[in-house]
Amino acid sequence: AQNNRESMFIVNNFARDYFQDILFNHIDGKSIGMAYFRQRGFRDDIIKRFQLGFSTDARDALAQEATKKGYKKDFLLKTGLCYERDDKSLSDRFRGRVIFPVHTLSGKVVAFGGRILNADKKIAKYVNSPESEIYHKSSELYGIYFAKQAIVKQDRCFLVEGYTDVISMHQSGVENVVSSSGTSLTSGQIRLIHRFTNNITVIYDGDMAGIKASIRGIDMLLEEGMNIKVVLLPDGDDPDSFARKHNATDFQAYISANEVDFIRFKTNILIDEAGKDPIKRAELITDIVKSISVIPEAIVRSVYIRECSQLLRVEEKLLQMEMGKLIEKQK
Ligand code: CTP
Ligand code: MN
Ligand code: MN
Ligand code: MN
Ligand code: MN
Repeated sequence: AQNNRESMFIVNNFARDYFQDILFNHIDGKSIGMAYFRQRGFRDDIIKRFQLGFSTDARDALAQEATKKGYKKDFLLKTGLCYERDDKSLSDRFRGRVIFPVHTLSGKVVAFGGRILNADKKIAKYVNSPESEIYHKSSELYGIYFAKQAIVKQDRCFLVEGYTDVISMHQSGVENVVSSSGTSLTSGQIRLIHRFTNNITVIYDGDMAGIKASIRGIDMLLEEGMNIKVVLLPDGDDPDSFARKHNATDFQAYISANEVDFIRFKTNILIDEAGKDPIKRAELITDIVKSISVIPEAIVRSVYIRECSQLLRVEEKLLQMEMGKLIEKQK
């Protein structure tokens, strides 16, 4: 099994180098792939640091090159770089896409994401490597290898939705950033961050999906004992598009000015939904107390209960009682 894993990493390294070579040296890579990254404002040094690449739309260009170089079919299949057709010939998974290699904490390439170049509603915007012996999506975070030092130094980690959010934030000088790549956050991913810091700031896309995902992520993060802040972006923006509209200083200033703790975030969102309806307001309070009740440390819980009481103008004693009931139930 160890041999399998080693061989899969070797094939992935080959593919990463191959996609990079196409991007920098091949005619299609230079004219289509590079043009795409340029238009998105990605600098060359960032493209190189993240080892971005390009795949032409040929059916089996990578398979052919790999086979010629002596890489075994078995590992092209196991890594998911290729798949087998009915006649047993190989097809490349990534075709006509810009390529984002996914690195482990120690910098090994375990997977790839590939994005189409134009908005074609008929095909998936991103194609990703399948789960494999070396790739368990739920325990990896895109960008962690490039972020870990900055996370320790800043004692904070930014969590964003996508590949390009991570990359654009690096370009704006914010390097302590990782992405859960669209999927909802797992406890494995949170523990990976927790190895480096207790503090996390969630900056999901400023749309309904992003807000809902932030709210779901909050309870997971609280359960793992993290301190959470949330930044809400203007409607329709994600960190990448926002970073492109503002210079690095303004971007970072926006984050500092708009960072709120999770209670404030949840309250702001839910209070809008509840309006003046007293029942809905009561539900909102229960909802927030529920979130507080999953926090492992009692002292931290009591700090948040106090904040909740001030923010929602509800007696602290009452909130404590409600929380007590919930904690009893969880036992
Ligand atoms: N994603 C995916 N498959 C999709 C759509 C999204 O795997 N069909 C993942 C990708 O990791 C993507 C992240 O979810 O980066 C966030 O999705 P989205 O916000 O739609 O994409 P962006 O990252 O904003 O990508 P872009 O700016 O290139 O459109
Ligand atoms: Mn901790
Ligand atoms: Mn999104
Ligand atoms: Mn997005
Ligand atoms: Mn985007």
